[in-house]
Amino acid sequence: MNETVLVTGGNGGLGTVICSSLLDKGYKVISIGQTGTKLKPNDNFIHLDINLTNFENSLSEISKLSFDHLVLAHAMLDSKDFLNLTLEDFIVPIKTNFLSNFVITQYAVKKWLSESKDKVKSNHTITYISTVATKGGTQTEVPYHTTKRAFEGVMLTCAREYSDDGIRSNVITPGIMDVGLGKNILKQRPDILDRLPISSPSDPKEVADLILYLINAKHVTGQNLHVNSGRYFSI
Ligand SMILES: NC(=O)c1ccc[n+]([C@@H]2O[C@H](COP(=O)([O-])OP(=O)(O)OC[C@H]3O[C@@H](n4cnc5c(N)ncnc54)[C@H](OP(=O)(O)O)[C@@H]3O)[C@@H](O)[C@H]2O)c1
Repeated sequence: MNETVLVTGGNGGLGTVICSSLLDKGYKVISIGQTGTKLKPNDNFIHLDINLTNFENSLSEISKLSFDHLVLAHAMLDSKDFLNLTLEDFIVPIKTNFLSNFVITQYAVKKWLSESKDKVKSNHTITYISTVATKGGTQTEVPYHTTKRAFEGVMLTCAREYSDDGIRSNVITPGIMDVGLGKNILKQRPDILDRLPISSPSDPKEVADLILYLINAKHVTGQNLHVNSGRYFSI
């Protein structure tokens, strides 16, 4: 397997599981975060610390890399009651959860289009990790889920415009997981699981398995795949 996957948020709770699963299946992985990784670098794995909201610098770093697939799994979440939100509270989430994804995605699409010699053989994927909070809203995480939902629109455009060039774009929508951003929420409010059709947290390994599936599913594009214990349809 010679294909390389660039995973943003590759050192996060979910990202670490994604990187490990890709490595187990023989992919080369480049992980991006800001604070190092627990995984050991080797011939198939490197991790880079890059603040992706510094767009100019991040593009300059990413343009030094060669990769076939992109997994957009970085995000930030701050909690604040809706009635107390200010305009400033949206700035970092917009930069982190929307604009940085746009900048990387546009770069990757341009690069793959310019490299493509045979669009039938070309196989590139962009997989964006959204959240089920985009489907039902929340009282305290509005900048988080609105900026994440906004990026789903970019993914639809990419799927519509570039799938025929061998660049497929899909979204995976996890529910609460017992890793990363979800860990504390589950500790504080374990009862949120009781309202789910499947009353257990979403499994990060199932998200990773879907990414692997999407990389190889040549006729799947523009989809939003739900791994959220049924919360999507039961909201
Ligand atoms: N955990 C859940 O319950 C859950 C549920 C639904 C969806 N999700 C989604 O799953 C994805 C992964 O979340 P997680 O739960 O694994 O959270 P996490 O452990 O906090 O991971 C977030 C990742 O984003 C990176 N990141 C944040 N801001 C960045 C920036 N400016 N530049 C570069 N990297 C940045 C972090 O790197 P550093 O830590 O090094 O800053 C970290 O790797 C997110 O897209 C999240 O929305 C999570």
